[in-house]
Amino acid sequence: MSSPSPALAYRLEAARAVVHDASRLAMSMRPPPGGPVATQKSAQDWLTETDGAVEAFIASRMKTLFPEDGFQGEEGGVARSGQLRWVVDPIDGTSNYARGRSRWCVSLGLLDGDEPVAGVIEAPALNEVYTALRGAGAFLNGKPIHASPVKDPASAMIEMGWSNRVPKPVFMEKIDAIMKLGAMPRSGGSGALALADVACGRLDGYIEIVINLWDVAAALPLLAEAGARVSPFLRDGGLTGAATILAANPHIAETLSQAVNIPLA
Ligand code: IPD
Ligand code: CA
Repeated sequence: MSSPSPALAYRLEAARAVVHDASRLAMSMRPPPGGPVATQKSAQDWLTETDGAVEAFIASRMKTLFPEDGFQGEEGGVARSGQLRWVVDPIDGTSNYARGRSRWCVSLGLLDGDEPVAGVIEAPALNEVYTALRGAGAFLNGKPIHASPVKDPASAMIEMGWSNRVPKPVFMEKIDAIMKLGAMPRSGGSGALALADVACGRLDGYIEIVINLWDVAAALPLLAEAGARVSPFLRDGGLTGAATILAANPHIAETLSQAVNIPLA
């Protein structure tokens, strides 16, 4: 394991504090069970007032702390460019958040060029904080995490993310392939938390046909440090927009990759 640069270690600590404060803000604005308090961007794609408020909060704090770093948000797009680039998803799992459910998070990742180097994902309603730094491991609430040891696909739990960006037959074909392996399919509504679940062994795999950079930026270093295998998301177009992702524990990754026809890196 190479030792992390002090500049990156410092950034991770700063990001953790900013994401924590942003999570408190999101909790203070959290709607009661049942909502709805969201507007619809497109079919089943939701936006709440909190998404904008949390992103503005994080953008302002990061500009003060690291004005030389690039910054990109789900809502505001690319505000600044830089070799180091922060990528924020202010609320991942907005559909859950808007209904008063607990499975949502604030996600902040750091890229060094085309390499994911650090990430913080906080799920305040679940009391969970994931952190990762290249070369220094991945952690859940301060404890090291690792991808699961499950080897038999018939004992595996695989999540597949859904959005209106993917035609129904394509989605159904992949779900069918997962079920033919004997695996248990799941869909939880937060791509970032599902990938974090792969990193900590709660899930054996996650697939999404088209997912945005901000949904996965913080999870990529978690997955790498936790020993999961991942498809080449950034190389496949994710660096500048959206791409397919497959992440899985190292024991079933090849089998899953072949079954759903999504190559690994
Ligand atoms: C969505 C969630 C969902 C995933 C979608 C994302 P949002 O993000 O992560 O699980 O399947 O692709 O767009 O809208 O909650 O920020
Ligand atoms: Ca998202």
